Amino acid sequence: MKERLAICPGSFDPVTLGHLDIMTRASKLFDRVIVLVSVNADKTPCFSAEERMEMIREVIKDLPNVSVERLDGLLADYVRERGACAIVKGLRAMTDFEYEFQMALINKKLYPDAETVFLVTSSENMYLSSSVVRQVASFGGDISSFVPPEIAGRIKERLMKP
Ligand code: PNS
Repeated sequence: MKERLAICPGSFDPVTLGHLDIMTRASKLFDRVIVLVSVNADKTPCFSAEERMEMIREVIKDLPNVSVERLDGLLADYVRERGACAIVKGLRAMTDFEYEFQMALINKKLYPDAETVFLVTSSENMYLSSSVVRQVASFGGDISSFVPPEIAGRIKERLMKP
């Protein structure tokens, strides 16, 4: 039977416990998952694509069927080229919904053979986002319940204002 490959795209600037939860759950639903780090986001990232990928590699080391790659073009083209059957995204609240719904419809139009699958975030991560992590870390706050322990020091070091 054909391998069921899912793509888990995002900016991951930086990766949070919420992202890791979605990656872990996706790894149980699909044969293989590629976490895809977007480099063309409209926003200027805090961490370079290579740094974001390195941090993700560190936190998915115990998930053997998950790997990391970078996205330089359109998500739908990447999904088609890799023969993936699904795009997996986490949904936190209604505030995510409109944007994600639009993206899902656009991606379906561009590549109808893949489905966007939304996983509802775990309740403890409802409030969590990369921008919250960046803000708390920049003021020296405790980010230990927001990001995996392996990368917390690195994020603090980089973002803490002198
Ligand atoms: O975590 P984010 O920032 O919401 O992730 C956004 C991502 C990577 C899913 C989005 O930026 C993306 O799909 N970028 C690639 C360009 C693309 O395919 N856009 C959709 C058609 S406008």
